[in-house]
Amino acid sequence: MSLRILISSSTALLAILVIALSYQASASPPTKPASTEAVAGICSAAEIMHGYKCQEYDVTTADGYILSLQRFPQGKNGGGGMNKQPVLLQHGVLVDGMTWLLNSADQSLALILADNGYDVWIANTRGTRFSRRHVSLDPSNPDFWDWTWDELVAHDLPAAIDFVFKQTGQKIHYVGHSMGTLIALTSFSEGKQVDKVKSAALLSPIAYLSHMTTALGILAARAFVGEVRLLCMHSYLFAILMNIHILNRSIEPVANFLKVLCLDPKVNCFDLITALTGKNCCLNTSTVELFLKNEPQSTSTKNMVHLAQTFRNGRLAKYDYGSANFNTQHYGDSEPPVYNLANIPRDLPLFLSYGGQDSLSDVKDVENLLDNLKLHDVDKINIQYIKDFAHADFIMGTTSKDIVYNQIMAFFKRHT
Ligand SMILES: *[C@@H]1O[C@H](CO)[C@@H](O)[C@H](O)[C@H]1NC(C)=O
Ligand SMILES: *[C@@H]1O[C@H](CO)[C@@H](O)[C@H](O)[C@H]1NC(C)=O
Repeated sequence: MSLRILISSSTALLAILVIALSYQASASPPTKPASTEAVAGICSAAEIMHGYKCQEYDVTTADGYILSLQRFPQGKNGGGGMNKQPVLLQHGVLVDGMTWLLNSADQSLALILADNGYDVWIANTRGTRFSRRHVSLDPSNPDFWDWTWDELVAHDLPAAIDFVFKQTGQKIHYVGHSMGTLIALTSFSEGKQVDKVKSAALLSPIAYLSHMTTALGILAARAFVGEVRLLCMHSYLFAILMNIHILNRSIEPVANFLKVLCLDPKVNCFDLITALTGKNCCLNTSTVELFLKNEPQSTSTKNMVHLAQTFRNGRLAKYDYGSANFNTQHYGDSEPPVYNLANIPRDLPLFLSYGGQDSLSDVKDVENLLDNLKLHDVDKINIQYIKDFAHADFIMGTTSKDIVYNQIMAFFKRHT
């Protein structure tokens, strides 16, 4: 059975996959988080580094998470030099910083920036394999996973930005993809980080999710709030689901499950990515294989619930604890506070690029976001619409350098 058939015959499959992915986080941390690969970090992945100089840093957040950061201080042909402009790359949900490095060197944004004289930094959010550490909590402790993207806004983003700011003594250019745009936009809307950020390029921007079109997204969003009974369509899934139901902490990591699924020659993993992200125009088969070797990454169930709330409510607010009482305990108000994107400083240079085929960052939702930015200074906002692009093209597309990355660098030059 090809995956395509599996999807159409059972639309719940992918919802289950995503649910399983997020449960991996809370239910099944690997018993040995410190594999040699994990200790060595992203820089040691020779197959990806293409011979570039790469440095590893650890940054501790105010709430104790130890995050891994990578730096590419120079281009392929060296060229150190002082006062290079720092750029921080922030990945999206269910992936990590590795996704910026999966294409060949002349197609990967991080390395293109390094070759063009930028001092490039890559962030990895809490819970992903190289940032699955905490000063006191073990990942096997459910408290380790008690966070949503609110905490990425409150802690991870400031930790990474402060660190780069201090190391380089300069304001940074920011590049976010997907959830990496959400946490930047909401942070800026609270007036945070704007004093340390020179400009922000936002790829597949996500703020509103009401029009998310993937069956996957819709089903997952519903399932997370208990509206869809999980159906078991497949024996692998059945086993995993049963484990999820009882929150059995010893289930195999689901990333492995996905790998097993993809090893099956009858399963088309391109279809899987399509189902997740939309009809990408320009992915390279070798890159997708590398992607599936390295991703997906864990996130917390609570984070997926929070994203599902955004989808359901059509408004951008902090995590909803589900009752007036609990919300009052956390926020001093019966409703979670709303992030008002119209409060983003109007003179903060923004570059937004979105795709016509993107099923996670739907065109209508992006238009809703742009409506919030309609009073932004006209010379401080650039908007790019790419008809053929879907979610993954922005990171891994073979044509992205010409279509998007060159525009980003021109935008940075205008706002140095
Ligand atoms: C696809 O990726 C491989 C490995 O990086 C590379 O050799 C090849 O040129 C790429 N193809 C295209 C069309 O970019
Ligand atoms: C979890 O599942 C494993 C087998 O998959 C089983 O050996 C173990 O007893 C289960 N643990 C609990 C708490 O049910």
